[in-house]
Amino acid sequence: MRGLNPDFRVNESTVVLAIETSCDETAAAVVMGGTEVLSNVVSSQIDLHAAFGGVVPEIASRAHVELLNPIVARALTEANVDPSRIDAVAATYGPGLIGPLLVGVSAAKALAFAWEVPFIGVNHLEAHLYAGLLDDPSLPMPVVVLLVSGGHTMLIEMRGPGEYRLIGQTIDDAAGEAFDKVARFLGLGYPGGPAIDRLAREGDPTAIDFPRAMLHDGFDFSFSGLKTSVMNHVRKNPSVATADVAASFQAAVVDVLVAKTRRAADHVGAQAMVLGGGVAANSLLRERFAAAGEVDGRRALLPSREMCTDNAAMIGAAAWYRLRSDGAMPLDTGAFPNLRLTVTS
Ligand code: KG4
Ligand code: ZN
Repeated sequence: MRGLNPDFRVNESTVVLAIETSCDETAAAVVMGGTEVLSNVVSSQIDLHAAFGGVVPEIASRAHVELLNPIVARALTEANVDPSRIDAVAATYGPGLIGPLLVGVSAAKALAFAWEVPFIGVNHLEAHLYAGLLDDPSLPMPVVVLLVSGGHTMLIEMRGPGEYRLIGQTIDDAAGEAFDKVARFLGLGYPGGPAIDRLAREGDPTAIDFPRAMLHDGFDFSFSGLKTSVMNHVRKNPSVATADVAASFQAAVVDVLVAKTRRAADHVGAQAMVLGGGVAANSLLRERFAAAGEVDGRRALLPSREMCTDNAAMIGAAAWYRLRSDGAMPLDTGAFPNLRLTVTS
């Protein structure tokens, strides 16, 4: 097997085929040298799940099974590489939904076995941290990454590939989860983040003074009280303009996210602050994050929306660094729905 070949070295021309199926995006990408994205194909299942108001794990698993082969084929075609040029195959092996994860991990292991190349299981959270490096491989370290997705809200100090320290995290709902729950309550459909983002443009962000939980208190976050506060306000004021609720809710979330990221960046002496995760697609968050960077004289890196939301290019980037530091993983590696980010301190 090439992966066991002692002459195999990870270098700038090492090409990784990466697969991402942890939730409702079926994605494949070809990445060279950890930073050069040769192709990045994402197929969203949002339409399949929208009618149910959230991701249905069994439907997601079945859709991944149907979509994965054509998506992998397209990633290879768009990258213009022959399978014989692939040096390693990677897949997200956690955290995420167990059925969807198993589809990607099984496919990646089968390809690695058939092509006789190394397999690498990638931590989805670690992969999100690489969106900034894909944007700018010369990003000066340390950086503070605000990772905000449907399942996670974390502030992480990244000192280099594989070197992370958890500075803070949510003690209840994730930021994206709060967007999704409030949107569902307001009847805006799924996924909630983009719907609130759109509607908020027509509303007044100062109309309702929603609570900014733990704003001046440490680096952790809490969003469940805000969600309850939105519900109480709408129940008490049924004629309130939904756009004002959306704009005021969004402003409350963004205020806390930006304030804590700035403080964390000061705290660790970060060279830059970087956004990652699906909520990083939010227009107000991007605007305020960039403005904060300018005021503080610190670089604020906003990876493209395609890189912030779930994709396989970030899996390919993280895989390259993992392969270089730890080597291949065994082909009996499983999937881990509750996998945590390994922190160095
Ligand atoms: O990272 P991601 O694509 O999947 C997870 O790993 O969770 O994040 C999805 C989350 C959802 O909660 C979605 O509502 C939120 O990101 N999201 C947004 C926006 N676009 C996606 N939240 C606020 N504003 C947006 N524009
Ligand atoms: Zn994600």
